[in-house]
Amino acid sequence: MKKPTALLSTETLQARVAELGAEITRDYQGSHDLVVVPILKGSFLFAADLIRRIELDLSIEFLGLRSYGAGTESSGVVQITYDLTQPVVGRDVLIVEDIVDTGLSMRYLLENLATRQPRSVKLCSLLHKPARSRVKVPIDYLGFTIEDRFVVGYGLDYAEKHRNLPYIGVLEE
Ligand code: IMP
Ligand code: MG
Repeated sequence: MKKPTALLSTETLQARVAELGAEITRDYQGSHDLVVVPILKGSFLFAADLIRRIELDLSIEFLGLRSYGAGTESSGVVQITYDLTQPVVGRDVLIVEDIVDTGLSMRYLLENLATRQPRSVKLCSLLHKPARSRVKVPIDYLGFTIEDRFVVGYGLDYAEKHRNLPYIGVLEE
């Protein structure tokens, strides 16, 4: 398999993750019950690094979403593949996502979570591809805005491969 070309290096990612962690630490000082919700599978590496930069008591609850088939185009149909194991009523939920592309997945999830009566819901996304946005989604904490290219690595896949790359790269056509 050809090695993807680096777009965001390990160092660049780690520096930004540290900044996001510090910002989140400041903003949630008053929170008594922060639940960090990494969206599987794509955000598992980002979330693992991010939570180690958040200096607060917190809980982790995973949630799995699928909106893509095997290719690079969103099907627009969003499915929950793994749900929270605890209620979030009255709690501060911080969603951790790998990338907001069309925005369809996050719109679906934000609407779904609102029905579960959390105290607050915020979104932290490592990447945003505004060129492909189809619905507007408020991103409270954003790592990087990127151009309209399909990226892999640091948790993100192409047909389930490349998640283990330590950087974000692009596949050459
Ligand atoms: P959206 O619903 O179109 O915003 O899609 C969001 C999901 O699609 C993300 O959580 C990723 O799992 C996946 N995705 C979108 N763009 C890319 C990409 O460039 N590389 C890998 N996965 C992507
Ligand atoms: Mg995803």
